[in-house]
Amino acid sequence: MIHFGCDYYPEQWAQWLDEGEARWQTDARLMAEAGFNTVRLAEFSWGLLEPEADRFDFGWLDRAIAVLSQHGMQIVLGTPTVAPPPWLLAAHPDLTIVDENGMRMGAGTRREACANHPAYQERSRIIVEQMAAHYADHPAVIGWQTDNEFGCHDTARCYCPNCVREFRAWLQQKYETLDALNKAWGGAFWGEVYRDWNHIPVPTRSAAERNPGHVLDFYRFSSDSWTRYHRRQIDILRRLCPNRFVTHNLMGFFPQLNYYDLSQGLDFVSWDNYHYYGATPGAIAAAHDHMRGVLRRNFWVMEQQVGQVNWSAYNPATPPNFVRLKTYQAIAHGADGVIYFRWRQALAGSEQYHSGLLDHAGRTTAAYEEASQIGSELERLAPLIAETKSVADCAILLDYDSRWALQQQPHNQLLRHDVAQDFRLNLPALHMDDFDPEDGPYMTGRSYLAWPFLAPYVALWEKNIAVDIVSPETDLSAYKLVCAPFLKVLNPAIVANLKRYIESGGTLVLGPRTGVRDQHNRLFTEPQPGPLADLTGCTVRFFDSLEPERANHLFWSGLRTLHETTINLWAEVLDAHDAEALASYAQGWYAGATAITRKKNKNGQVIYVGCMGGPVLYRTLFDHILPGLGVTPPMISVAGVEICARQAEDGRRLLFLLNHTDGSHALTLTSPVVDLVSGDSHSNLLRLAPGQVVVIETHEG
Ligand code: GAL
Repeated sequence: MIHFGCDYYPEQWAQWLDEGEARWQTDARLMAEAGFNTVRLAEFSWGLLEPEADRFDFGWLDRAIAVLSQHGMQIVLGTPTVAPPPWLLAAHPDLTIVDENGMRMGAGTRREACANHPAYQERSRIIVEQMAAHYADHPAVIGWQTDNEFGCHDTARCYCPNCVREFRAWLQQKYETLDALNKAWGGAFWGEVYRDWNHIPVPTRSAAERNPGHVLDFYRFSSDSWTRYHRRQIDILRRLCPNRFVTHNLMGFFPQLNYYDLSQGLDFVSWDNYHYYGATPGAIAAAHDHMRGVLRRNFWVMEQQVGQVNWSAYNPATPPNFVRLKTYQAIAHGADGVIYFRWRQALAGSEQYHSGLLDHAGRTTAAYEEASQIGSELERLAPLIAETKSVADCAILLDYDSRWALQQQPHNQLLRHDVAQDFRLNLPALHMDDFDPEDGPYMTGRSYLAWPFLAPYVALWEKNIAVDIVSPETDLSAYKLVCAPFLKVLNPAIVANLKRYIESGGTLVLGPRTGVRDQHNRLFTEPQPGPLADLTGCTVRFFDSLEPERANHLFWSGLRTLHETTINLWAEVLDAHDAEALASYAQGWYAGATAITRKKNKNGQVIYVGCMGGPVLYRTLFDHILPGLGVTPPMISVAGVEICARQAEDGRRLLFLLNHTDGSHALTLTSPVVDLVSGDSHSNLLRLAPGQVVVIETHEG
């Protein structure tokens, strides 16, 4: 089944409206009329469920669940620990996090608590146990969402005294001796040699730059703190409420928590799909593919934006077909649940301008109408979608250590701007001579090009080639192509995994700055790419950090193509000892020097890309290598029309055709098809209106 529904806050409407709880009946009826079957509740309601310490009130929630389940809704309950109640904050004024400037966050909103505060941990345990026990046998409750968006609002890292104490304990457990820690951090340069564990600070804002090993360990510790906090909740839910799923709503490419660690123990991950200013279908597709890659299984969208949000720079109204395209795109990429945030626009309190399926006055919106249409379409489609999943021949490796290591000594400040920050900082336009204006914002969004990670993804996405975005330590044997666009930090497990993959005949594409740092964020004693130099057959002689106004071009010397490609931000000059040169720089004082190499090993091949560029760079490369790998798209489309497949065990495939553009497009068909959404048959040509979604069934091969 596809879980389809909304995030609902019955407690708010009971407080805000004169009709009180009576409103729940109307809401539940409208949900049922839209074809909804699932509702998420209660993730912010600690203060109502436990109005004072150890006095619990589940009555209102029981009544709300009763109304919803009478209308056929299944319930996902949030553990409400993201919003500690006023009495707890009043009793422990030091419960809130302290930021890197030493400023303690104010109480009275949400997400303000420190993962390492003993009282927060203890009271979290109690409310989760009480809730889990109360709903353990409730027939309408199908599963749990733990907390809500760990790390949201920049809260993953806390610098309070509890964290200082826990950080030291974490370090002691990791290194055992101060000698080992001092060697790992290599702090002799500025005399940062620790002789007492109690002298080690947390890396708050400081006069001069911080030691990169110190900071990387603190980022790991912070991520581990939330992972540990999370794990306690998962264990309670498993113990007291078995046979229900447990999930958490992640935030796509959120950079501060290691999602592979944080998600261990969950049945599946969920995520919250918001389309901040500049987000594009390609970037959103990438986020879906990462969420699917975290546990390598289907996922849910627990919060799907339905209209304008309240928190981005300009909050544009969303156009017609927005809900429809985003919903089907999520399902196409492997979502087994799509839950809309939020049911109705708030009347009071936070986020009053955040849209809902109903507006603040209770009128149904265009988003509600689109959702209702999807609801009726899913009656037919859901049985066909059940038990299908994405099958990808290609993987892209996303490594959190590498993302974190980039935050110190980035050597090019534009590289520091991560996806999570793009929408706030609006990057200066880069030189994009070969940016195809016809691709328009539908394809990439300029600001994303500055994130080296997304360029190869978008190049594959444009070709409708399925990609899993996974950990570099995952089993890669099933993939025909593995791309690691940004693997700055190498640990021995990653090196061994990549070597295994190449020995078994894989094709590996490594991006610039691969293997520049070891696991302690130190440079390797060998030239870059350090322990992978044998595999690549090349080493980096030197690198150039390019200002935004200075681009270079590649001449594809080894590919017999005259195409020239713009590169930006980063250019490494390579010595190809045991590899062929595929491309060289066309301009500047190192014109002619090697930029991209390939080494064919006994079985596999390793391509080293020493420069950064947009999708065009990788498009050229992939045009050349994909045919030889047998990687083919399920169907050919045109720019802006995404085609994405879900496949059943027996090879039956559903192709989702999504027209993300404002124009109509015609696709050439090789055989007649039936659109499972509309029931229409098509032969020769399939015409897609702006925003149209078509689903067709084929068979693999
Ligand atoms: C999410 C959050 C929701 C709501 C939403 C607004 O981050 O989980 O509770 O705040 O953003 O877009």
